[in-house]
Amino acid sequence: MRSFIITATGLLACASSAYATNYIIKDYCTEKVYLYFADSSATTGPFELDSGEAFTQKITGSGHSIGVVNNTSDYWSATGPKCILGVTANETEAELYWTISTVDGDCLQGKSFSVTSEGRVPDVCGTTTSYDGEVHACADDGNVTLTWNLC
Ligand SMILES: *[C@@H]1O[C@H](CO)[C@@H](O)[C@H](O)[C@H]1NC(C)=O
Ligand SMILES: *[C@@H]1O[C@H](CO)[C@@H](O)[C@H](O)[C@H]1NC(C)=O
Ligand SMILES: *[C@@H]1O[C@H](CO)[C@@H](O)[C@H](O)[C@H]1NC(C)=O
Ligand SMILES: *[C@@H]1O[C@H](CO)[C@@H](O)[C@H](O)[C@H]1NC(C)=O
Repeated sequence: MRSFIITATGLLACASSAYATNYIIKDYCTEKVYLYFADSSATTGPFELDSGEAFTQKITGSGHSIGVVNNTSDYWSATGPKCILGVTANETEAELYWTISTVDGDCLQGKSFSVTSEGRVPDVCGTTTSYDGEVHACADDGNVTLTWNLC
């Protein structure tokens, strides 16, 4: 895991291994948010993502979810708004799947967001500006970047 300032250059230069499919969360909001990471074995967080900063991590294996909340009290609360990005990579099959949805309300209180994808072609794995809850899937050569732009 690492975070960096959005304006940092040479982001992808760090990706040295052949398999480099990753996601990036960029906080363009004027406020910080909190991130939580969950898979079948554990949930970790909160991690603070300040306004103007970004976070990136490789996508490997299945069933990862990244939760964004406004307030740390929201994540474990039955009434706390949570935005959830789900990602699964199947490296054997060279496939990538992602979903975006909310649970108990919109963590950004109606502010805009987008999820975009880049890879062997632009928009390789779809794009959305709504919490459509759909499974977006694509063939993945191992070099997809999924970007979640907050605000
Ligand atoms: C977070 O939620 C708690 C409990 O509802 C509240 O007391 C606190 O002021 C909130 N913090 C922020 C930064 O909104
Ligand atoms: C990848 O897909 C294959 C074929 O559907 C399946 O057998 C395998 O369990 C999947 N791997 C992961 C990590 O989901
Ligand atoms: C978090 O909640 C506060 C209080 O409602 C609001 O002012 C702020 O804009 C929210 N932050 C984000 C990133 O939506
Ligand atoms: C992604 O991988 C494919 C297959 O190896 C390659 O043709 C393509 O140029 C790569 N795209 C990028 C953006 O690295």
